[in-house]
Amino acid sequence: MDFNLTEEHIMIRDAARDFAKAELLDGVIERDNEQRFPTEQIKKMGELGFLGMMASTEYGGGGMDTLSYVLAMEEISKIDASASVVMSVNNSLVCWGLDTYGSPEQKEKYLTKLTTGESIGAFCLSEPEAGSDATSQKTTAIDKGDHYILNGTKNWITNGGTSDFYLVIAQTDREKKHRGINAFIVEKGWEGFEIGPKEDKLGIRGSDTHSLIFNDVKVPKENRIGEDGFGFKFAMKTLAGGRIGIAAQALGIAAGAYELAKKYSKERKAFGTEIMNHQAIAFKLADMHTQIEAARMLVYKAARDKDNHENYDLSGAMAKLYASQVAMEVTVEAVQVHGGNGFVKEYHVERLMRDAKITQIYEGTSEIQKIVISRAILKE
Ligand code: CAA
Repeated sequence: MDFNLTEEHIMIRDAARDFAKAELLDGVIERDNEQRFPTEQIKKMGELGFLGMMASTEYGGGGMDTLSYVLAMEEISKIDASASVVMSVNNSLVCWGLDTYGSPEQKEKYLTKLTTGESIGAFCLSEPEAGSDATSQKTTAIDKGDHYILNGTKNWITNGGTSDFYLVIAQTDREKKHRGINAFIVEKGWEGFEIGPKEDKLGIRGSDTHSLIFNDVKVPKENRIGEDGFGFKFAMKTLAGGRIGIAAQALGIAAGAYELAKKYSKERKAFGTEIMNHQAIAFKLADMHTQIEAARMLVYKAARDKDNHENYDLSGAMAKLYASQVAMEVTVEAVQVHGGNGFVKEYHVERLMRDAKITQIYEGTSEIQKIVISRAILKE
């Protein structure tokens, strides 16, 4: 595996790092406390090209590879995982999904706005009774000739209130099971489309998570993505790439916490010396560094597989499973290294620890990743 980064990769990584330090760090604690969406920061991220990195340049995207995207995701996530989930959903679920499977008209109308951050997108698969069991869609889209009528509820939707365009998965023909599912582009403001209350969350509190209610929403046929019945495959293929983005987010959360713990261990003194000189702390840092490096290799490998047009279901699932576990373990240890200060908001690590947890849940729980991994290795 050759992970030598090109000059361009390094430039992108450094630009994301600089942006995160200059624009996201300030106010990140307050946004978390107040559950405030980083509106201005996301706008700037759009202007700088961080919201449509992999999308075609023809539609305003950056035309970059997946490795560039994960490098940027890691850097943004080190500082603000709420901003990075907006970035992840917009890039790898919404823009990638539309760029890869949308019609030229859909791309012209929607993708051009999503790549630049003029509009934000959401990906709406989960339902009150269909989270991990994603084929059990209760939301219906009944074919009425030139349009569909959409009814149902979606849950835990990232960018739920702030989005302009929503990719909604719904059941058109129940008898056909998952082959009767479709994906649609729905616009905010359409009659019958209601945004539910904002969720009060453990972590990524600056991001905007809502339930969505569709009550006889009329969706023009031209807003269906792909052929009739393609919706479940669309969701699965899109999520396979999304999982690489979340793996990069988990990696960034872990790396951010580790960097803070390392710095703190060189400043804080106990028993007459900096705490890094105590093996109890030095060994924690050694473990954290090793875990992060291993997670990074898995994330880069998954990104490379996608860039090389190889199957990335397995490598993406492994990257997400492992990186999210590392994010949890490393952030807990980073709090421990900080001692009492680790429990205090101004030191950032307690937030990173809270933010880490969701990476084991969204875009497929760790248990779902193990289903994907075990099925892939057992059929070999
Ligand atoms: N690519 C293409 N097709 C795929 C696929 C993939 N990666 N994975 C499955 N499929 C296809 C299968 O081939 C099958 O189609 P055919 O019968 O036509 O061959 C169909 O999908 C159904 O597959 P399974 O029989 O394997 O279905 P299953 O019921 O056993 O479920 C699952 C498979 C992997 C568990 C799936 O349900 C799953 O991924 N669940 C988790 C859902 C999830 O990740 N939700 C996250 C919500 S989005 C989110 O979190 C975004 C956010 O806001 C941050």
